[in-house]
Amino acid sequence: MHPITPSRLAAMKDKGERIAALTAYDYTAAQMCEAAGIPVILVGDTLGMVVRGEASTLAVTLDDVIYHSRMVRRGAPHALVIADLPFMTYRISVEDALRNAGRLMQTTGVGGVKLEGGSEITETVARLVQAGIPVCGHLGYTPQSTHTLGGARVQGRNLDAAVQLIGDAKALEAAGAFAVVLELVPTEIAAAISRQLDIPTIGIGAGPDCDGEIQVFHDLFGLFTDFQPRHTRRYLNVAEDITGAARQFKADVADRRFPGDEQSSALKPELSARLSE
Ligand code: KIV
Ligand code: NA
Repeated sequence: MHPITPSRLAAMKDKGERIAALTAYDYTAAQMCEAAGIPVILVGDTLGMVVRGEASTLAVTLDDVIYHSRMVRRGAPHALVIADLPFMTYRISVEDALRNAGRLMQTTGVGGVKLEGGSEITETVARLVQAGIPVCGHLGYTPQSTHTLGGARVQGRNLDAAVQLIGDAKALEAAGAFAVVLELVPTEIAAAISRQLDIPTIGIGAGPDCDGEIQVFHDLFGLFTDFQPRHTRRYLNVAEDITGAARQFKADVADRRFPGDEQSSALKPELSARLSE
């Protein structure tokens, strides 16, 4: 089974097949996504929040993303696995970006990288693509700039910002990006970008008219419960279920209902009898 490629995503857009993407941060989660037939898995720097409990994505390093990407790739050999380039790993210089993205690709087996930003990073995007590294863009609310953007809020609400957003999306496509994530963007603007680009748009909080949708695993399945972004939907309440099961386990241990005979190995009766003599 060949892994899914960026050109497969373009073909999906052409055929009007919507692209469902999920984040994953480890082997077992990646296996579940793969078993469900999810074609695109992102090793997102949201791991800073949902795996580690930090307030933002900023403390996540390239080594962290490499560590998680290896696990995800092992669990999902068929999906297109994309890894986030973390804060400050691609903005210092084009050379630095090439070195960092190159190391990520070489050491993990992921099929591409994602960078946040528009026109100001298109030279970097073009150089990565020339070097053989598929690039996914990320526009709208870009969490690595949370401090300059003033938190997670919808972007492109006025005309100037909307025009800029559409221009940035076109610039990323021209630079060779194979897809672009649109995060917290008004529905109409995300729809316009999706119509005007040949490459697929993947929305998150960007309305129903993108070519695909990406969600954070821990949000969608109710594993992360500190807060619930408006753009997500809880398909499961895994944290609640596990907490309940852990409580049951604790009670079973306390009341000697666990472990039982099925979880234990006994000696043959005659030996057992001699031991108790
Ligand atoms: O890090 C992440 O999970 C992301 C998605 C929310 C697009 O960048
Ligand atoms: Na991210």
